[in-house]
Amino acid sequence: QCIVVKSCPITISDVIDVPETLKGRNFTRVADFSTAELELVLELAQGIKAAPREEQLVLPGRSLGMIFQKPSTRTRVSFEVGIAQLGGYGLYLRADDLQLGRGETIRDTATVLSRYLDGIVIRTFAQADVEELAEHAEIPVINGLTDETHPCQALADMLTIRERLGRLEGVRVVYLGDGNNVCSSLMVAAARLGSSFVAATPVGYEPDERAVATARASGAEVEVLNDPVEAVRGADVVYTDVWTSMGQEEQRDRRLRDLAGFGITTDLLAQAGNGAIVLHCLPAHYGEEITEDVLYGPQSAVWDQAENRLHAQKALMALLIG
Ligand code: CP
Ligand code: NVA
Repeated sequence: QCIVVKSCPITISDVIDVPETLKGRNFTRVADFSTAELELVLELAQGIKAAPREEQLVLPGRSLGMIFQKPSTRTRVSFEVGIAQLGGYGLYLRADDLQLGRGETIRDTATVLSRYLDGIVIRTFAQADVEELAEHAEIPVINGLTDETHPCQALADMLTIRERLGRLEGVRVVYLGDGNNVCSSLMVAAARLGSSFVAATPVGYEPDERAVATARASGAEVEVLNDPVEAVRGADVVYTDVWTSMGQEEQRDRRLRDLAGFGITTDLLAQAGNGAIVLHCLPAHYGEEITEDVLYGPQSAVWDQAENRLHAQKALMALLIG
């Protein structure tokens, strides 16, 4: 299929009917995008994934600044390589190495970086900081994870589900464990794209109520349960994430105790049946939220999911930076 490739006379707008709305926009949370816009990103991601590399140079000379206040393997590497594969250039900016780390304001940083760059990715703690950066930047700001959300992960997750199952409509996505940033973004993306969503967490670890309300507002079925076995019955997708997110290290002992029983093991997966796929945003902590045999087992789609970060984000950058 021919989408947004150089040698191809068809532009994105010839193929799908909404793209101009995305140019210059921010992606601070999944709910920034309508269903049609999310579908467009996935469609383009699939097109880019299939296109020859030499035809993908749609962002020649564009610069992407990547501000990281937390560690990263996938997000950093997929954005840095992704912008390069589109013909542009990625700048890794450790937050502590910027004057931001010495008290320069977010507004001043946004204003100055907008004079040099064509887009910014930021991974930080407070969602409000990403929103403040987006408010003041004159270039697209993409959220590379906050304590509250991880929207780029959700794009890759939905791309992987669609690839593996051939559809999103009516798919039952079951998330087990800590109702964290990854859970919130996945829930909203699943709901907007026609899937039903079940989160099964211990009491006290339920997902953010605002994310649940946003997801339900799409008309999707969204359940929050406290029983992992009940949750996985009939699942098409069984998803989990770490129990101790970045910044929560001091709570690790309590979390290990409270979340015990919510990990994906072969026994628990058997309750879902052979047709279910397993997803994990990674990094994994074996023996906690997932076992190594499940992650490397026949139902695991996690390595494709990790790869799809690259394709989904290339589509996102192509559409926003344009
Ligand atoms: N899944 C994910 O965001 O991984 P990194 O923390 O390695 O970027
Ligand atoms: N919930 C995890 C996701 C890591 C990609 C964290 O915030 O650390």
